[in-house]
Amino acid sequence: MNRLRSSRRGLLAAAGGLVASAGVQVAARAAPDAAVAKLPATTEAFWGDHQAGITTKQQSHCYFAAFDLTTEKRDDVIALLKTWTNAAARLTAGQTAEPMGTDHDAPGPDSADALGLSPARLTITFGFGPGLFVKDGKDRYGLAGSRPDALIDLPRFNGDQMVAEKTDGDLSIQACADDPQVAFHAVRQLARLSYDAADLRWSQTGFTSPPADGSTTRNLMGFKDGTQSPPDVAKAVWVGDDGPVWMRGGSYLVVRRIRMALEHWDRTKVSFQEQTFGRQKYSGAPLGLKGEFEPLGLDRTDADENPIIPENAHVRLGNAAANGAAEILRRGYSYNDGVNFTAERWPPWRQGMEYDAGLLFLCYQTDPRTGFVKLFEKMAKFDMLNQFVTHTGGGLFAIPAGIRQGEYVGQRLFEKA
Ligand code: HEM
Repeated sequence: MNRLRSSRRGLLAAAGGLVASAGVQVAARAAPDAAVAKLPATTEAFWGDHQAGITTKQQSHCYFAAFDLTTEKRDDVIALLKTWTNAAARLTAGQTAEPMGTDHDAPGPDSADALGLSPARLTITFGFGPGLFVKDGKDRYGLAGSRPDALIDLPRFNGDQMVAEKTDGDLSIQACADDPQVAFHAVRQLARLSYDAADLRWSQTGFTSPPADGSTTRNLMGFKDGTQSPPDVAKAVWVGDDGPVWMRGGSYLVVRRIRMALEHWDRTKVSFQEQTFGRQKYSGAPLGLKGEFEPLGLDRTDADENPIIPENAHVRLGNAAANGAAEILRRGYSYNDGVNFTAERWPPWRQGMEYDAGLLFLCYQTDPRTGFVKLFEKMAKFDMLNQFVTHTGGGLFAIPAGIRQGEYVGQRLFEKA
């Protein structure tokens, strides 16, 4: 297979070449080559010491998917991870998921819906959930002894309303791209390639729109979200030599699907919204200060000795200094899944059709026990934000080390166990 024929553009050429022999059916799958030529080739490296999509500059769209392994055979899991790795390397390079075969009437190496699109900085980040190691007490693949201590079963937190159909999973894929169609296409191809070994369990789309001036993006509550990040990102995120070999250079991902009561929020005074977060809405600055990137100054008090940033404000509860230096790298996206009949659990206990929209919270860390769990245990109990948000799904996934060319994702785990 030469490079041109195996690229998305190459598939176009190949499909075009078939028109004469296969008639209109194939012609409908082709797209004008001229449009392709104009597209920028924006590509993120796939192979490396770390998986991409973690410290990569955030793309504008995300498609997150979790899978249940249906096979009982370890070799099937290895075969799936090999297939996924090969396909992901191709997709992130802007190629079709599989090379074009010679049977042009076969269902196809690719669904073709991303033909002509640029790679759009696509990254594909694979994760392993607890179910890969032990499921319902069963060691299906001889991996139980290799389950990292940090890959805990997440506790139930105060206020959680987790829905089984949006929670957990044995494997995860986070596909991020600057084009929603490219992100969805990638997961769809990988899901198709997993048919004999795994089933999609749940998925969630997300979006974020960076302002043209490069300033911090805003979440659906209208606040700048992403101002604070760990001062030493590598230290906060990558598992070091104290982790299992296959996790060194990897990370742990906590995903939470967090619904926002936007109807309630939109009727709340801005001053109360600002107290809730501990930051000003329009500038993003900590309460009482001017600049978005000024330190929070948690010790500041007013004339009556009351803290300027309230005790239960979101940023105080999330701040590393106030939590034994617990650092996480947040990489969240907004989500919008239409409307649902909802009964609010906070005053004014509104019932009716409400948005199912909010935050696809994604955060990376070296250990969730000292990262997300440490921070969120306190937040779940005391955060003023809780009256406006509900956690409805999510999971914890070990993100294996980066993939070296010629390897498959997680190879060092299977070689060891
Ligand atoms: C819908 C839910 C949430 C919303 C709307 C939200 C929004 C925000 C906003 C606006 C900020 C301040 C700006 C910034 O530094 O980015 C912030 C900070 C932060 N949030 Fe959240 N957040 C949510 C959930 C969570 C959760 C579940 C955690 C879990 C631990 C978390 C952890 C943090 C941390 C660590 C900070 C930085 C605190 C600091 O300044 O040191 N957030 N969040």
